[in-house]
Order: sequence, then structure tokens, then C-alpha cells
Amino acid sequence: MLLDKKLKNETPAPSWAYLRLPPFPQVALQLLQMANNENVQLHQLSNLISSDPAFASEVLTIANSLLYAPRFPASSVLQAIAVLGANNLQGLCLTVGVRAYMGKTLQQPAMRAIWRHNLACALIADQLASVGFMDRDIAYTSGVMHDIGRLALAVIRPTEYSLLLVTHSGPPANILETERKIFGWDHCEAGRQLIIDWKLPSEFEAIVSEHHAPRQKDSSWSMADLINVSCRMADTTGFPAFPGCEATPFPDLLEELPARERRLFHTEIEPLAQEIARKIDAVESV
Ligand SMILES: [Fe+2]
Ligand SMILES: [Fe+2]
Repeated sequence: MLLDKKLKNETPAPSWAYLRLPPFPQVALQLLQMANNENVQLHQLSNLISSDPAFASEVLTIANSLLYAPRFPASSVLQAIAVLGANNLQGLCLTVGVRAYMGKTLQQPAMRAIWRHNLACALIADQLASVGFMDRDIAYTSGVMHDIGRLALAVIRPTEYSLLLVTHSGPPANILETERKIFGWDHCEAGRQLIIDWKLPSEFEAIVSEHHAPRQKDSSWSMADLINVSCRMADTTGFPAFPGCEATPFPDLLEELPARERRLFHTEIEPLAQEIARKIDAVESV
């Protein structure tokens, strides 16, 4: 394989502690760390977001975009929170945060595909949560974060990771072994390490590190299951993390849903795919 040949003489990956990974936007991290604190006041959220003017202006732009389509555009962060609600705002801020974290790498098609895959997973997770009894905000947030480990690998060795993404083919979980061989970590382990480094709530740890693990069919439906299915639905609706990804057929994915979700969720792939594409365009056009 071209990639194996190219990497034959590479030295092994350094230990995690020595990697120089760029910091995630502080504002988005602090918002995520507040995720479990119900006593946070709206003005505290607004003050936190406004403390970073560039971040705040991007939050406002997306809040006023077609993604949320408010009847009256918000002109301040506080107004945006009032219109969208504190919960939606957290997901929105994370979207802004991940986009800022990816920065210039978004210009590479392989990295752009990962960004779209994460966003598609988040939008699907949000819908699946809303037809069940799951927390929509945690579902959306977990969706945006679930493949964050891929960004770490892309930062560690950008050329090699892009090359792996464009040359690899097979089911989504098959890429993990090749990642371990080349980088020393797969993207699930790297993602888990980032969650720990960034001191994010531990509930994200299992979701990020186990999203490709085979599902226990007889266990109860959890947030990790919801993300596991949403990730594969993102592949199936036209937003795979890498072009050679073998997507699971939509009817098989529906079979995996609990009865209530299956009854209330989309039964046809086309309307869902169109809706996700439209929302992703709305975020990308701003
Ligand atoms: Fe993944
Ligand atoms: Fe994924």
C-alpha cells in the first residue's frame, strides 16, 4: 500500500505528553465544563462568550443564520441566548469552537469531510434524541465531539492522516487498526485523551472512545448507542468521514433503534439527507 511504503522509515509516534497540540478555544471549553451546572445564569453565559469578541461575533452570525432562522435577528449574545435558549447555545458555541480549532486545516478536502461528518452526526443525534427521551443538548454536543480524535491525528501528522483518509476503504471501524499502526493511537483513544486534557465532563469520555465499538444489542439504549448509530447514519446520508467508508444501509440502522425512536424518526433516507445537507450548507455559508 502506498501509505505503508511512504511510512516505512518513519520513527514511532512520541508519547502523548510530548505532543504539541493546539489549544481548543477557551470559551467553548468553559461552556462545556459548565454543561452539568444547572445554576449558571444567562448573563454569566453571555459574559463568558462576549469575553472573546471574535468568538462572540461568530456565535451571533451562526445564531442569525438559516440554521436557526430566528424571526428577528439577535444583535447581542444575550439576545441570542434568549431566542435560542441556553441549551441550543452550548451546541452552537461548540460548533464555532470546533470550526475555530480546525482553522486552516478546513481548506483540505479530507479535513472538511471530517468536519461535515461531525456536524451531520450532531444534527442526526439531536433529532434522534428529540424523538426519544434523551438530552438533545448532550446528544448534539457529543455528535460534534465524537470524531475530535481525528483532528488530533491530523495535527500530529497532517500529510499522512489526509493520505490515509483518502486511500483507506472498508467499514468505519476498520481504520482504527491502521491508525494505531501509523500514529501510535487510533482516533477513539486520541479523542479520549483530548477529553481528559481539556477537563471536559467524564460522560463524554465513553462516548468519544467507544463510538466504533460493536453495540450490545440487548443492553438498554444509551447516549453512547445514540452516537454510535448517528455516526453511521452520517455516513449513510452522504457525509462519511472518509470517501472509501462502507456505509450501513439505512433500513439496517433503523432496525437498531428502540421501538419508540423507530416509530417517530424518519422512515425514508432522502428527506433526512436533504435536511442535513441544507443545515450543513447553512453553517458553511456564514
Ligand atoms: Fe470515528
Ligand atoms: Fe464518526
